[in-house]
Amino acid sequence: MTESMISTAGLRKTFPGAGRKDPRVPVLNGISLEIRAGEMVSIVGPSGSGKSTLLHCLAGLEPYDAGSVRLAGHELAELGRGKLARLRRRHVGFVLQSFNLIPSLTARENIALPARLARRRVRRADIDRALTAVGIADRAAHRPGHLSGGQQQRAAIARVLAMRPDIVFADEPTGSLDTATGGDVLRLLRASAGTGRSVVLVTHDLEAAALADRVLVLRDGLIHAELSAPTPGRVLDAVSHARADA
Ligand SMILES: Nc1ncnc2c1ncn2[C@@H]1O[C@H](COP(=O)(O)OP(=O)(O)OP(=O)(O)O)[C@@H](O)[C@H]1O
Ligand SMILES: [Mg+2]
Repeated sequence: MTESMISTAGLRKTFPGAGRKDPRVPVLNGISLEIRAGEMVSIVGPSGSGKSTLLHCLAGLEPYDAGSVRLAGHELAELGRGKLARLRRRHVGFVLQSFNLIPSLTARENIALPARLARRRVRRADIDRALTAVGIADRAAHRPGHLSGGQQQRAAIARVLAMRPDIVFADEPTGSLDTATGGDVLRLLRASAGTGRSVVLVTHDLEAAALADRVLVLRDGLIHAELSAPTPGRVLDAVSHARADA
């Protein structure tokens, strides 16, 4: 049996209502899942179904109301802020729709930044390897403003991979890219899974979702369906069912 990277049991989360007297709004309504080391899992579902909130809870970025989240063997609710931050730095990488690169730093400097901030030794060879792995070695000295959207997202992924995280969360990483460029970025994420590294991808693109080993369909803060060996057609069917059952 492959070891578990993340597992949740009965995970629930609410947000405050709009007004001070409004009841809290339930967003995650009892989610139990397991993501194994080396596995790539996609999460799909309608807008507002709780996909981003789920990622934030899994990554220890948001507190939850009930249930458990275990990340790399630690129960997140039992950790104080400092320990949680260290656990995140050691194990977790995040790729977002917006690339969040620092405009005044070159691609190389952007990629080295998280390690510097974590006071880790940054070896030039590691940065070179990350730049080459994402195919922008020739753009290393350029600032983000002089890179295409696809190259900026590759730099953002290299920045994550340079920290050698055990798990990469990607929330709509191709949301601001054209289809061909987005395809390259997805293949890069697909290739970074395996050999002990897990990838969790949130996407509205059902073809992209089908690149994963497993697809979870979220609806109203619950896992409505789960597909192993997904194909674009089977993901589409499952998402259509989730809509029809609404
Ligand atoms: N900080 C917050 N405060 C209050 N409500 C929130 C907050 N963040 C999210 N929500 C609500 O929680 C629900 C789930 O939001 P979430 O962002 O997780 O959805 P999503 O599935 O990622 O949607 P999308 O596909 O549009 O990104 C939504 O109804 C949203 O309005
Ligand atoms: Mg979202």
